[in-house]
Amino acid sequence: MYFNLGAACTATLLAIVSPVHAADSVAYKDPETGFTFAQFNAQYVIGKYITYRIATPSNVAAGTPYDAVVQVAAPVDVGWTGLAWGGYMTYNPLTVAWQNGNSATVSSRYATAHQAPSIYNGASYTLLKKGTHVNSTYWQYTAKCTGCTAFTGSGNRNVTLNPTGENRVAFAYSRSKPSNPSSSGSAISVHDVTASWTVDFGSAANANFAELVQKNA
Ligand code: HEM
Repeated sequence: MYFNLGAACTATLLAIVSPVHAADSVAYKDPETGFTFAQFNAQYVIGKYITYRIATPSNVAAGTPYDAVVQVAAPVDVGWTGLAWGGYMTYNPLTVAWQNGNSATVSSRYATAHQAPSIYNGASYTLLKKGTHVNSTYWQYTAKCTGCTAFTGSGNRNVTLNPTGENRVAFAYSRSKPSNPSSSGSAISVHDVTASWTVDFGSAANANFAELVQKNA
């Protein structure tokens, strides 16, 4: 009997370097707001997670911008949290948010360098009352974003996130609370942790998106 070590090694290597590809997100139906989200738990310190959820409308024509709903649930020790829609810090919309008393402040930012990002008028947010609340352990916000899924990327490229497939996004976490929590223009200090993951926008699609936005407004 022959044992082909070369082939066995190649097969093993292939299994290691090309695992069956799957998005990091999982589908989650939020009983409170009714949205179906693609959800990811981002570990920001050992054993503690910030939950990021993205919901989109279904039947989006390829290449056209579309609204998205973002929901983030964070433990109260999280000073600010950011979602980078293009998967890195620069040249994509940054949804930055923090606890503000019994609610949250969402701030639209954009960076062209690894420096404090500027206010970004290319994206706007509407906080949805129903999915936005604070208790003794968590704060959570839910917001509709117009301008998060299509943007000018690096090298002046027009980027539109794939409405039916995978997109790479990233998060940033800082333990420091912004100096002026009620203002979306507040200064923020640099993050302590960042990481990226893939979101399956296919599993984030909602046929009744517009109706749910209205219902939760
Ligand atoms: C005062 C504000 C900020 C400063 C000074 C800053 C600075 C930096 C620097 C120096 C790096 C590269 C080195 C490292 O990984 O530490 C970096 C990476 C990163 N930052 Fe920021 N940042 C700020 C705010 C933000 C915000 C609001 C986000 C929102 C999501 C963000 C997302 C990221 C991500 C995802 C990375 C890793 C990937 C990449 O290099 O693009 N940052 N930041």
